[in-house]
Amino acid sequence: MMLHIPQVLTLDQVKQIRLKLEASDWVDGRQTAGEQGAQVKCNRQLDENSVVGHEIGQTILSSLAKHPLFVSAALPHRYVMPLFNRYEGGGHYGFHVDGSIRSMPGSNLHLRTDLSCTLFLCEPEEYEGGELIVSDTYGEHEVKLPAGDMILYPSNSLHKIEPVTRGARVCSFFWVQSMVPDDGKRTMLYELDQNIQRLRQQIGDTAEVLSLTGHYHNLLRQWALV
Ligand code: NI
Repeated sequence: MMLHIPQVLTLDQVKQIRLKLEASDWVDGRQTAGEQGAQVKCNRQLDENSVVGHEIGQTILSSLAKHPLFVSAALPHRYVMPLFNRYEGGGHYGFHVDGSIRSMPGSNLHLRTDLSCTLFLCEPEEYEGGELIVSDTYGEHEVKLPAGDMILYPSNSLHKIEPVTRGARVCSFFWVQSMVPDDGKRTMLYELDQNIQRLRQQIGDTAEVLSLTGHYHNLLRQWALV
């Protein structure tokens, strides 16, 4: 399931983050790509060990932890610290699949990449091109969102970034290991949760709503790997 998560950051937060990013050092983006990815990748990234990057990353992760739509859809278990990329002057990233396992810096832990996240830090009119194209069994989906908004999509999908032909596209990107690895099961839990929440608003905590809530948690208990 692909999902648009609106307003992860306020416009004021985006403004502060962009000022900090503009004052930071950027490196060749091929440093974090695998062998196949490096051949089709042409962009710049903030150094993975950047202190400023970690600070901003924490801001993003704490906003997400409080975002009910994100929590319902991702059922997050672990996060990779957000990274930052910049595409300009024809910069692009051809079709690739994100690596399945990432090591977590400073620990022995690894993370299985279930969900990929792209958080937009520029407004769409600030640059030409730069669409994120995600290809799945339903075809190709083009994504270009307002600053502060995020797209969540399964990490097993092929995706690419179109060349940026005017201005610059700055985004944060990172991966989530979900408590529920299977995208189909996670999507069913998300739809059930969203409908229970709507029902609660419409009719309150009736015995039926309570029973459905129990059903949701019992399914999650069966499917969650934590
Ligand atoms: Ni990617």
